[in-house]
This record gives sequence, C-alpha cells and structure tokens, in this order.
Amino acid sequence: MARILITGGAGFIGSHLCDYLINKGHDVICVDNLFSGSKNNIRHLLSHPYFEFIRHDIIHPLFIEVDQVYHLACPASPIHYQYNPIKTIKTNVMGTINMLGLAKRVKARILLASTSEIYGNPKVHPQPETYWGNVNPIGPRSCYDEGKRVAETLMMDYHRQNNVDIRIVRIFNTYGPRMALNDGRVISNFIVQALRGNPLTVYGDGTQTRSFCYISDLIEGLVKTMEQEDFIGPVNLGNPNEIKIIELAKIVLKLTHSKSDIIFKPLPPDDPVRRCPDITLARQKLNWQPNVSLEEGLKETIKYFSEKLKG
Ligand SMILES: NC(=O)c1ccc[n+]([C@@H]2O[C@H](COP(=O)([O-])OP(=O)(O)OC[C@H]3O[C@@H](n4cnc5c(N)ncnc54)[C@H](O)[C@@H]3O)[C@@H](O)[C@H]2O)c1
Repeated sequence: MARILITGGAGFIGSHLCDYLINKGHDVICVDNLFSGSKNNIRHLLSHPYFEFIRHDIIHPLFIEVDQVYHLACPASPIHYQYNPIKTIKTNVMGTINMLGLAKRVKARILLASTSEIYGNPKVHPQPETYWGNVNPIGPRSCYDEGKRVAETLMMDYHRQNNVDIRIVRIFNTYGPRMALNDGRVISNFIVQALRGNPLTVYGDGTQTRSFCYISDLIEGLVKTMEQEDFIGPVNLGNPNEIKIIELAKIVLKLTHSKSDIIFKPLPPDDPVRRCPDITLARQKLNWQPNVSLEEGLKETIKYFSEKLKG
C-alpha cells in the first residue's frame, strides 16, 4: 500500500484515478482548489478511511509525506484555461515547481499529466514523442500549451540535476463520465446539445479529425506508466482511431436518439486540423493500448449526462 498524492484529484481524470487507486487499497490524498473540479466527483470517497481531501492551490508550496505524486492539477478545457490565462501558466510553472520540490524532499516518484497540445498544430501525423511540435508562443492557447511545455522542461531538469524520479505522459483527448457539463469540449458539447434537443455546433466544416480515449483506458495507462521501472517517458497516451468531427456528431445523434440539427460555425484561432497519437512507444514500453470502443464509451458518457441533466 502506497501513500499517493493526486493534484487535481477532484477533476474529471483525477477523480477516476482516486477511485482506481482507492480500490487497489492505496492511501490517497487528493489536493484540489476546486477551480474546474468539484466535490461532487469525490463525494462518495469523502468518508473512506484511506481517502483525504485537501483544498489547496498548488501555486503555493505543500508539505506532506508521500510515495508517489500524480500531478494533474491544471484546468484542461479551453473555456477553463482561458478564463484566467495568467493563473493557468502560474499553475503549470509554479505549481509544477512546488510539486517537484515536494517530490525531491520526500523522494517520491512524480508523474506529470502533460498533453498532446504541446505538439501545437502538428506538421507530422500521427505525432510520435520525438516530434518537437509547432506551437504558437503568443496565442490565446499558449498559457496552456507553453505552460505544459515548461512543465515538461522542469520535470526533465529536476530529473537531470536532482535525480528526481519522474514520469511524463502526454494525454490526448479523453472523455467519459464526470466531464464538466460546461467545459466546451466537443464530446460534452455534442451530448448536451443532443439531449436538450438543441442544434449540434460543428466548428469549421467538420472534416478536422480528433481521436478520443475513454477514461478507463487512460487511467490504466497512467498507472502503468507510474509503475514502470526504468522508463520516464515522455509517452503518448491516447486512442489512435481518428474520426472526423462531423462523423462524431452523427454518432452522438444516433446514440441519443436525438432529432437535433447540425450547424456550422467558424473555427477558433489556432485550432489544430488534425490530432492523432502515435502510441507505438506505449505499446512497446507499457504493453498498453486502449480497448474501449467509441460507441461503448459514448454510451456510458451519455448515460452520465442524461442523469446529470435530469437533476
Ligand atoms: N481531459 C483531457 O482530454 C486531457 C487531455 C490532455 C491533458 N489533460 C491533462 O490532465 C489533467 C486533468 O485534466 P481533466 O480533464 O481532469 O481536467 P479538470 O479541469 O477536470 O481537472 C483539473 C483539476 O485541477 C484542479 N486545479 C486547477 N488548478 C489548480 C491549482 N492551481 N491548484 C489545485 N488544483 C487545481 C481543478 O480544480 C480540477 O479539479 C490536466 O493537467 C490536463 O492538462 C487532460
């Protein structure tokens, strides 16, 4: 049984990771400032004897003793991370320095939840970990993209200079129950619009592609990376099955039995036209690959959103 800190543990991914690690018998400390996360995501764990919630902002140092740190704290959807871009970059830079300082002090292994966004608008498809990316340093998404790039740099520097035991994962679009209803991401947008009978909004002509990984597959990948000896990453975790946004809209309409229309709006600035992980490295080093099909995952997610919309 390990004592495990999860920053951002009340968020979408973090709360599923809390569930998973508690079920494995670990002692879990969830740290979150509840900016984009919610106590509702972890309410069922609050009375568990091995679960502890600390409301704390990681731009301030934290002094606790742990064996492992899953460092996930950072708003992940554009609506949330652009709400206060300076805070987003502070979370990525100062927050990551604080977590690395903690890991260094107590000799804990630390895993950073980085992102496919560090590849920017990629000129290489699909993106392997060796690709350095094509990122706009001064755009509205830069607080997040560049913030995560600096977070990766910090991880590597603490590793090289101070021997901190690190892991870096680059997460591609992940979806599932507990995504925030209002986060503006394509899957939650489409499902909520379809369930409410509103038109589904497609940005651009819908031919841009994305790949979507179901939450349980991702959690397995995170834990495998943390537990793997002699492999620090960075490693891509995502689902390599690409789908056009317009096709996704049609599948959501089918699965929700919705009669909603599809409407088209202009693409936001810096929106990548294509995003697909190369997961060769994860397959080789972690023996990991996603197993949940898009339809299966969407059905679970639709079930969650319909209950949430009911009240
Ligand atoms: N969901 C995805 O598709 C995706 C893709 C790539 C990377 N990621 C990364 O995974 C991590 C989790 O993403 P998510 O989808 O669960 O997002 P989320 O917004 O649901 O979760 C992030 C959590 O971090 C907390 N947080 C934010 N700033 C904080 C701060 N300063 N101090 C303490 N807590 C803070 C939020 O309250 C929230 O609970 C993020 O680091 C994100 O960048 C997610």
